[in-house]
Amino acid sequence: MPSTAPHGDGFRPLSRAPAGRGDFVLVTCQGGAEAALCRRQEEILPLMKKGAWRRGVVTFRLPTPASGEPTFDPPDDFNPDLIFARAVIRSYGQVSGADDSERIQKLLALTGPADWNNVHVWQRDYRTEVSPVAIRSALIASLTAQSRPAEPALGSRVESSLQTAIDQPMARPGDLVLDCMIDSADRWWVGWHRAASPSSCWPGGIHLVSLPADKVSRAWLKLDEALATFDLTLRPGTRAVELGAAPGGACQRLLEAGLSVVGIDPALVDTRVAALKNFEQWRMRARDVRLKNFRGFDWVVADMNIDPTSTLESIGRIVTASGVRPEGIIATLKLPEWSRADSLGDWLKLFGQWGYSPRARQLSTGGREVCVVALKSAGPAGRRRATRPPGR
Ligand SMILES: C[S@@+](CC[C@H](N)C(=O)[O-])C[C@H]1O[C@@H](n2cnc3c(N)ncnc32)[C@H](O)[C@@H]1O
Repeated sequence: MPSTAPHGDGFRPLSRAPAGRGDFVLVTCQGGAEAALCRRQEEILPLMKKGAWRRGVVTFRLPTPASGEPTFDPPDDFNPDLIFARAVIRSYGQVSGADDSERIQKLLALTGPADWNNVHVWQRDYRTEVSPVAIRSALIASLTAQSRPAEPALGSRVESSLQTAIDQPMARPGDLVLDCMIDSADRWWVGWHRAASPSSCWPGGIHLVSLPADKVSRAWLKLDEALATFDLTLRPGTRAVELGAAPGGACQRLLEAGLSVVGIDPALVDTRVAALKNFEQWRMRARDVRLKNFRGFDWVVADMNIDPTSTLESIGRIVTASGVRPEGIIATLKLPEWSRADSLGDWLKLFGQWGYSPRARQLSTGGREVCVVALKSAGPAGRRRATRPPGR
């Protein structure tokens, strides 16, 4: 295991991973996305075998050498590209008990001592009447107390690390995180992960920002999460066009980043956005806009409530047009049925054919849809053919 990790402010030592690493991998997802998640897992991690599952959570067994299968022990910061996964943790199993303090004692016995930097507590189902904040505080207090007498040196490190984490549930890259997913009021799943990607720093992989009152739609939040998840930098003064812009939350977020924005939509954009200085609306359908009008845009954003193949056709028509070569695409592909996720691999290939490198993720703030972010590929622009998307 490496002893240091790159950090924004230089290098800092990594804390020790727990000795017992946990027997399986637990993955959480949006309720309903379990089958799509498993199909993706079969493609990219075929050595893992599906175990128990229920709405919003799937467990995977790791192969053991004794069974004759190849060994696969994920690294500490294991966060594979499962697209539909929110949190991916190494799990020890579940604890249950009469009350929080009994469950906490069982949790501590299950995990054993480790040099935790943060504790993530979240609910599988928001309707469960529990307080993750209160459970997290109690857990941090117990962890701090437990480590103090037995291992004074470790205790002081845990204490100082967790003290700073009390008000800051967001982990930093490199942090060793103790995970506690509340499955039901009296049963918790317990595990750990090493924070690495932006979403692995958020409890349960859930974007922590809630919609501020002055934002005109939840699309503001989705774009905010997409920017954070894919670590995108929008340079002030650049230009974006959004297909499917009304009522205007995403345009609002782009304008806040200092971009000039054109919103295309037959429906009206909210007056609070429409009145902003660097905003213009073209009130029509995307396919009715002449291609030469797309020249000079740096970003193409798409969030239309139409079939994903139609969204892809609209994007392909634009980014393969003569004189149009935005640096990036941020596309929401709606899934009218979960089974449509089977076409995702083919859809992503289209971005490659257009000369872009795509990454995809189902955002925690989105609905039954996938967000694709595709940046212009380095080198030759690729074939850049407008190809018809499969899977309609
Ligand atoms: C989910 S809403 C978009 C939300 C928006 N991005 C925001 O930030 O508030 C979907 C929008 O797509 C628009 N739409 C559907 N088909 C379209 C098309 N062919 N061209 C442009 N807009 C379209 C609808 O009118 C609707 O306003």
